[in-house]
Amino acid sequence: MKYPNFTKEHKSLMAKYLSKEVFEELKDLKTPNGFTLERAIKSGVDNPDSGIGVYAGDIESYTVFGALLDPIIEEYHGFLKSDIHKSNLNPDDLNAPNLDLKNEYIVSTRIRVGRNLADFPLGPAISKEQRDEVEKIVSSALNSLEGSLEGRYFPLLGMSEEDRLSLVQDHFLFKAGDRFLESAGLNRNWPNGRGIYHNNEKTFLVWINEEDELRIISMQKGGDIKEVFSRLAQAIKELEKMMKFAFSKHLGYITSCPTNLGTAMRASVHIALPKLAKDMEKFKAITDKYHLQIRGVHGEHSQSEGGIYDISNKRRLGVTEVQCVQDMYDGVKALIEYEKALCD
Ligand code: ADP
Ligand code: ARG
Repeated sequence: MKYPNFTKEHKSLMAKYLSKEVFEELKDLKTPNGFTLERAIKSGVDNPDSGIGVYAGDIESYTVFGALLDPIIEEYHGFLKSDIHKSNLNPDDLNAPNLDLKNEYIVSTRIRVGRNLADFPLGPAISKEQRDEVEKIVSSALNSLEGSLEGRYFPLLGMSEEDRLSLVQDHFLFKAGDRFLESAGLNRNWPNGRGIYHNNEKTFLVWINEEDELRIISMQKGGDIKEVFSRLAQAIKELEKMMKFAFSKHLGYITSCPTNLGTAMRASVHIALPKLAKDMEKFKAITDKYHLQIRGVHGEHSQSEGGIYDISNKRRLGVTEVQCVQDMYDGVKALIEYEKALCD
């Protein structure tokens, strides 16, 4: 493998930190699952507009390719090699009374975590057989859930295009054909092994074998952030009784993308901020202050529609789950106050 031909367009942290020296040090290394530097960086090389540009194939990737990944993790999360991750999923520690009882601003709330099984490689390095095995293990565990989490698993294989598109359009299911995932090897054998589980109300959902082996999701209409967090915490507890997730003391929950390490949590609201949206500079200043990220209404790499934005926590590693949600809550509170104060 030769040093990549980075252009001025390559803006990712991978391109920034993959110096010729680091490349020479890592280029011939392999993890126990045979994952290489070439595969780890392919997404960022193929997609110059990547912000991060690197994926891990297994938990060992984070140590074997540490010379590249440590500085990326440090810059993205402000988290040092000597730091230890902390966890707190106790909803009682969250201070989040409903911000929008009249449903004027918050359309819906969603909190997800990524998880991967401890005994399998991550998606970029998994074989078809292993992926199918993950699907079997996770879907049968999910199918045994009872009470408000009880539901059904719907594999992508055999799902009608109409059903798939309507689940995507309604914000329940992941999209197909993401070019970043494609280059990372995360779309291999599509649609085999992929699918979605949900309860009847579609307030508890699990994506299987997308960017991570599990994306555990709690969502509902309106702004009751605490209720959404409580449901997620309960679901995680139930699932942990049935499977072991990849975890390290240093990095917390292990995910294929370094941005999701730690809590692997993204807590978001879809929120109408039509006035603030006319002053994007001010909007961004507030979201930066509260460690928030702005996405479009159809998720990552999508645009806003009708002044509705997806606002979520940016920090995920070195902060607890409660803090992730608190970041989002505090920032959304401030955004609503600014929106209210603006004249038409
Ligand atoms: P992820 O949440 O896993 O980082 P995306 O940003 O692609 O991935 O979002 C996945 C889906 O979840 C998209 O359809 C997006 O519109 C939907 N979504 C995210 N936040 C909310 C929310 N607060 N309410 C409703 N749907 C949401
Ligand atoms: N690989 C893409 C990039 O570098 C996405 C990174 C963060 N998003 C994610 N879904 N992991 O821009």
